[in-house]
Amino acid sequence: GHYDTGGYEHYLLKEISEQPDTIARTLRGRLDDRFHVAHLGGLNMDARETRSFRRVKIIGCGSAYYSGQIGAQLIEELARIPADAEPASEFRYRSPVVEADTLYVAISQSGETYDTLAAVQELKRKGGRVLGIVNTVGSAIARECDGGVYLHAGPEVSVASTKAFTSTAAAFALLALHLGRVRDLSPADGRRICEGLRALPEQIKEILTQEEHIRALAHRYATSAGMMFIGRVRGYPVAREGAQKLKEVSYVHAEAYPASELKHGPLALIGPEMPTVAIVPDDEMLDKNLTTLGEIRARSGRILMVGHRETDQADDCIVVPKNQNELDPILLSIPLQLFAYHAAVALGRDVDRPRNLAKSVTVE
Ligand code: AGP
Repeated sequence: GHYDTGGYEHYLLKEISEQPDTIARTLRGRLDDRFHVAHLGGLNMDARETRSFRRVKIIGCGSAYYSGQIGAQLIEELARIPADAEPASEFRYRSPVVEADTLYVAISQSGETYDTLAAVQELKRKGGRVLGIVNTVGSAIARECDGGVYLHAGPEVSVASTKAFTSTAAAFALLALHLGRVRDLSPADGRRICEGLRALPEQIKEILTQEEHIRALAHRYATSAGMMFIGRVRGYPVAREGAQKLKEVSYVHAEAYPASELKHGPLALIGPEMPTVAIVPDDEMLDKNLTTLGEIRARSGRILMVGHRETDQADDCIVVPKNQNELDPILLSIPLQLFAYHAAVALGRDVDRPRNLAKSVTVE
């Protein structure tokens, strides 16, 4: 039928493998190479309004929230508007201050997550301006929002989100480019981001060719009692999502921490029995991250590094192509999806329907 696994053993692997195409679909028709801007027809916002926001607040649940953290960083970096992400499930209960000069962005693959919908309804009640970054056309959240960006990633069947996660990050890059180019992002930086976005599908294809290597690593690490995921700044949401994927589908305990926080507590967990997955982009944080790897090694902790070049500071490395610093989180996320998938297969888990979870949580 329409929603079959297309020759793949599981929907999860199919959806991971589709990402060169799903990212391309999120970008299609939205990049302008002449003025280096993004065209987002569904925002329903004029230029004056676009320039008026002084803050961006992003809400979503689970992986949608982690993709929102990537989104907040993109908006701060490219549009220079203070932005942060919060779980919608918390936001809706804590009586947030709703401001007229804040742009609210709700993220949902399904468009039906009740906590996110309730948060949007509360925002609307209080006069908030809400955009949706949603995959499912015509869903409850999409209808409730004032405007938004559809992902066009196609149906996501496996409970663990993968292609919607990377497409959401790409949609945020478009939104950040759009907001930035009517404020103070230079044409040169706009061009750099446009070119980086266009390079993503081919780079994702390159990562997918490494599946055998990642599978072997997943089999080796899957027997650990637990794993630590660390990253700094752009690497931190990637670490959180990597830990979430591993937990969801393999049931291996995983913790995510900012690498900078290790010495403030969790370093006590590090030893031979607790390996670390370290997200190490080639950015301003590279040296700091390599120092952290040294600290973990000094405690006999095994390290799997995901970055853009090999290092002998790690026991194992997954090397992904380099894009622009702001866009690298999209690429760095993909090996972690494959890692979680193969860990789950190695452990004989119900990959597409993990225990205790539903694809969309439509109840309180
Ligand atoms: C992702 O792997 C999870 N299954 C879960 O965190 C999910 O992202 C969350 O429930 C939000 O779903 P939504 O995007 O459909 O709103």
